[in-house]
Amino acid sequence: PGLDVLAKRAGLLYFGTAIDNVVLNNTKYVSIAYNRSEFGQVTPSNGQKWLFTEPSRGVFNFTDGDEIVKASIKAGQMRRCHNFVWHSQLPEWVEKGNFTKKELTSILENHIKHVGKYYYDACYAWDVVNEAFNEDGTYRETVWYKTIGPEYIELAFKFARKYTSKHTRLYYNDYNIETVNNKSTRVAELVKDFKRRNIPIDGVGLQAHYTTGRSPSYEAQMKTIKMFNDLRVEVALTELDVRMPSLPETPEMVAQQATDYANAVKACKDSKDCVGVTVWDFWDPVSWVPYTFPGQGNACLWDEKFNKKPAYYAIADVL
Ligand code: XIL
Repeated sequence: PGLDVLAKRAGLLYFGTAIDNVVLNNTKYVSIAYNRSEFGQVTPSNGQKWLFTEPSRGVFNFTDGDEIVKASIKAGQMRRCHNFVWHSQLPEWVEKGNFTKKELTSILENHIKHVGKYYYDACYAWDVVNEAFNEDGTYRETVWYKTIGPEYIELAFKFARKYTSKHTRLYYNDYNIETVNNKSTRVAELVKDFKRRNIPIDGVGLQAHYTTGRSPSYEAQMKTIKMFNDLRVEVALTELDVRMPSLPETPEMVAQQATDYANAVKACKDSKDCVGVTVWDFWDPVSWVPYTFPGQGNACLWDEKFNKKPAYYAIADVL
C-alpha cells in the first residue's frame, strides 16, 4: 500500500504532495504524482498563485493550475488550492501599482471572485492568506498591509467565503508556526478574533518546512495542533519537507531525516483534528529547497533516481 492508503487507514483524510508544472513532461514523475495509493491529495506548487492567475490586471489565466487540477480530478485525488493572498510571486502591476486602499481592496475582491468562482468546488481547501506575520508576531509589511491595513486578512476570508463553494475549507497558512511561539500565538489570536466576530476561517496550515536535526519534536507539534484545534479550527501539515543542512548528506542526516518526517506525520495522525499531510514535492530535483537555501537540499521522500528514502519507510511505519 502507498502512503495515502496507509494515511486513510490511520484515520487521516489524505496524504498528499505538491506538484510543479515544470516536471510534468517526466513520465516517471507523473506516474508517482498521480498515483492515488501514494497521494490522495495534490497542491499546485505555483500555478494558482497571483503571478500566474492574473498576470495583468483583469486578465485571468488558469493554464498552469488547470494542468494539475484536471489531472488530479481524473486520478481521483483531492486538492488543496494555493493561494489567494501572499506577498511573494505577485505580478509587478500589483506590487508596484501604487493603488489607493479602495482600489487595492477592489482588486483583491475581483481576484478572489474570478479565481474562487473558477475553481468553485474543486478545492477541498484554499490557502486564503499565506505568511502574513513576522517571527515576532507583528504584521509583515506587505503591499496588502501597507495599502489596505490589517483588515486585508479578514476581507480576503470574507471574499473567499463569498466566491467559493460552501464546502471549501478556508485556511490561514504559514511557516514556523509548528511550535508554540510568538508567531503561532499571534495566528491563534487571529483565529480567536475571527471566531468571536464570525469571520469565516476553517483551518490553519502548518507549512512544516524543516531541517534535519532542528525539526520540532513530536510533542511540540502535538501541542501546537491542539492549541489550534481548541479554537475550533482544523489543522493540516501543508508543505512538509525536511532538508539536509549541508551537502553531501551523511548517513546520520539520512537517519535523522527519517525520524523528523515520521514525528511530523505521527503528530498529525495522533491529533484530534489534523486532517492530513502534504509534502512540498516528493522528488529532490524539483524541490524548492536548493534554489532558496543554497547548499541545502535532499529534502524529499524520493531521491533523484526515484528511489524511496528511509524517510518514506519511516512514515509508512507510523501510519
Ligand atoms: C515555492 C515553490 O515551490 C517554488 O517553485 C517557487 O519558486 C517559490 O515558491 N512557502 C509557500 C510556497 O507557501 O508557495 C512556496 O513554494 C514554498 C514556501
